[in-house]
Amino acid sequence: MCGIVGYTGTREAAPILLDGLSRLEYRGYDSAGLAIRNGTELARVVKATGKLKNLAEKTDNGRSLPGTCGIGHTRWATHGEPNQTNAHPHVSGNARRSASGPVESDVVGVHNGIIENFEELKQKLLNNGYQFYSGTDTEVVIKLVDYYYKKYKIGPVDAINRMMVRVKGSYALVLMFRDYPGEIYAARKDSPMIIGVTGEESFAASDVPAILKYTRTVYYMGNLECARMIPGSVTFYDLNGDEVQKDTTEITWDAESAEKGGFEHFMIKEIHEQPKAMHDTLNSIIRDGRIDLSGAELTDEILQKTSQVYIVACGSAWHAGMAGQYVIEDLAELPVRVELASEFRYRKLLLEKDALVIVISQSGETADSLAALRIAREKGIRTLAVVNVVGSTIAREADHVLYTLAGPEIAVATTKAYCAQLAAMYCLALQMALVRGRLDPERYTAMIEELLTIPDKIEKVLEDKGRIQWFSSKFANAQDVFFIGRGLDYAISLEGSLKMKEVSYIHSESYAAGELKHGTISLVEDNTLVIGVLTQNDLIEKTTSNMTECKARGAYLMGLTSYGNYSIEDVADFTIYVPKTDSHFVGSLAVVPLQLLGYYTGVARGLDVDKPRNLAKSVTVE
Ligand code: G6P
Repeated sequence: MCGIVGYTGTREAAPILLDGLSRLEYRGYDSAGLAIRNGTELARVVKATGKLKNLAEKTDNGRSLPGTCGIGHTRWATHGEPNQTNAHPHVSGNARRSASGPVESDVVGVHNGIIENFEELKQKLLNNGYQFYSGTDTEVVIKLVDYYYKKYKIGPVDAINRMMVRVKGSYALVLMFRDYPGEIYAARKDSPMIIGVTGEESFAASDVPAILKYTRTVYYMGNLECARMIPGSVTFYDLNGDEVQKDTTEITWDAESAEKGGFEHFMIKEIHEQPKAMHDTLNSIIRDGRIDLSGAELTDEILQKTSQVYIVACGSAWHAGMAGQYVIEDLAELPVRVELASEFRYRKLLLEKDALVIVISQSGETADSLAALRIAREKGIRTLAVVNVVGSTIAREADHVLYTLAGPEIAVATTKAYCAQLAAMYCLALQMALVRGRLDPERYTAMIEELLTIPDKIEKVLEDKGRIQWFSSKFANAQDVFFIGRGLDYAISLEGSLKMKEVSYIHSESYAAGELKHGTISLVEDNTLVIGVLTQNDLIEKTTSNMTECKARGAYLMGLTSYGNYSIEDVADFTIYVPKTDSHFVGSLAVVPLQLLGYYTGVARGLDVDKPRNLAKSVTVE
């Protein structure tokens, strides 16, 4: 959460930083700010609350802040309410400032993460004559760097290293020092930070899309490392202040994939990119009609030996794990537990020694998922990361990595990354089933052939979007929506319900259909929308009965099923059909109308669907 960009080079920094921040706004958007240096002049800081466009307006799109070196930030508040004073950048000086102008400070910086011991450090700094103008932990960490810098009369790298030893928590920090014009310093622990260098320019950013326009060659900063950037060059240091040699990584995403490309919002663009996300992911794993997990170094022997699978994730990735659980258990007959990463990390689970812990994450940076991965590794349990962002922390720390190839996902509410995660889970399930002797080779081949047809079938579902748009406008003023399903349909319902509440702010809940009558049905009244997901043939009758129970209490019923199940129309008031496919894979089709339903409902309510309130795409704090 929070987006950071830094630039030092030959061009005007402010417009580059604003552009970079606009590509990171998905990381937080309650306020934003810039600090720009013009040669040896003092840094000028400008901040604005609300979306980035307020900062762009305030600075005349950066034109009012001349200078070729600067740092920028878009915030998702953790400590201190989202107001202008608490917005970043923060400064080491004592002045409370809200107007733009030069700041009499030796250190100015931006931060992503949480400093856990900031109260204690603040007290230490107060005892040493510092004053505080904001409620943020960031101001504390910047003043701490300033304190060491002056007390020991050391250079920026040593001052930052002393801070890193003292501070507990997670951070990505980008700083400028008054005595070092044209230079930017970065430090990180557990929050992502990349550095790009090209020609006479150097960039720092929380994530690739911010700098993709300028360079595809990036360095990933390691934990507890510090970097010094000057135009066209970067040097990395460890905690001892010794230089660290690093290799670059080439980003293969093209810059266009981080643009809206004619669509009104990123979310709808990304919904339409699902056939490609699925096709690319499947084709990176399936070769000559067989699943090849050698890229992830997952041998048949490892899969045969696995006695238990734990799937650990957050949000939609957890929902993809739920779907994966049903498919793995059914096809491979292997016990699977799906755990929320935030729970997994604090539970004293007795993990079997031959277990496989699968961490699913789009960003590869989610703090709870990363912590869960580390716990599993500490316990000596094999870990597999199913991750979208190449080179992300989870991908780098896991024993095995299976990349989803969804490309950059910008909308906060995930769609195509979730779709690609399902594809990866199907492939894992099929291969586990084959090597464990639970699936005969003919059925394995036939299922892979069917799997490869899913991208085209998603295209077919998208052709029907007009009906969903119409239906969304009809229910745009709903108070509550309930999604119900059994088995895999329940897993898909969970994701449909999350999309609805994330982007439309309508209260929605997903229930295992049989559970509804144990409490939640008391909320159903005249015209309450109840959406039944009915794709699993052996469970359709059961869920239909639960829908009928809701109808008897006045509910308006929407049914979501496969072509052929026309009897649903006897019960449902409105029915959406998806193409027929193998029951294990049908969730990839059924989720699409539900994503569209959330999207169009949000649009009908006039909301900012790409950046829903209070959310952030990459949740790098606990
Ligand atoms: C946030 C996002 C969700 C995402 C979840 C997990 O809440 O808004 O869309 O599913 O984080 O993120 P990850 O990057 O680990 O998949």
